[in-house]
Amino acid sequence: MSIQRPESEAKIAAMFDRVAPRYDLLNRLLSARQDQRWRRQLTAMVPFRPEGRYLDVATGTGDVLLSVARARTEYQEHLGVDISAEMLALAQKKAKTSGLKPTPQFRQMSAERLLLPDGAFDCLSISFGLRNVVRRDQAIKEFYRVLGPGGVLLILEFFLPRKGLMAWFFQLYFHRILPFIGGLLSDREAYRYLPESVGSFYTPEAMREALYQQGFTVTSSYSYLFGACRLIQATKV
Ligand SMILES: C[S@@+](CC[C@H](N)C(=O)[O-])C[C@H]1O[C@@H](n2cnc3c(N)ncnc32)[C@H](O)[C@@H]1O
Repeated sequence: MSIQRPESEAKIAAMFDRVAPRYDLLNRLLSARQDQRWRRQLTAMVPFRPEGRYLDVATGTGDVLLSVARARTEYQEHLGVDISAEMLALAQKKAKTSGLKPTPQFRQMSAERLLLPDGAFDCLSISFGLRNVVRRDQAIKEFYRVLGPGGVLLILEFFLPRKGLMAWFFQLYFHRILPFIGGLLSDREAYRYLPESVGSFYTPEAMREALYQQGFTVTSSYSYLFGACRLIQATKV
């Protein structure tokens, strides 16, 4: 049985509110800790900008934001935004105990409507978040607006492998194993939604085109798990 993609932000926020308490645990378990390696690679791609401003959209429990805040201490601001209050509450708790100064900041808002000034940020990241956004083109438009000239956009995301052994393995893992484990430890519906959201997401080519349409130039792209996960760097020209 297939799960419809939730059609409203409110439903998506409610779903992430439900999975928040077990989110970090399941991430580590279901990706065999690979997610941490991918996040570290994203962190390494954040440009060096003294007094810069960094924004992590769909920050969730803040793993990427905290990793960047630790590595890029020359930035004056590390801000994380998300629509789920429960995810943000966990992120805030982690930020407080991290001892980082200045403490990373969090605000509840949608990628589609960033209540932030034009050209304010030097770097913007979104990891495993864009797939969940209802109007993705609108979000990319917002990313372009809030980045300054030469600003760097980093997108880490799952893509559907179309053929070969990885496509077969993806079907098995994402449609059977993952919802089973997710169901045991967290919310079965949410973990059945994950493969559906990947299936309805951009192809890598469509993503490149969507970025180009909004004014970005893709400057580099890395592929993991035979293309099932990608890290894309684009620049506002
Ligand atoms: C799979 S989690 C990823 C969290 C985190 N970035 C990470 O790498 O673990 C997806 C996150 O996207 C958030 N989200 C979904 N739609 C959003 C939107 N329109 N604007 C901002 N955040 C959104 C969810 O609340 C959730 O925290």
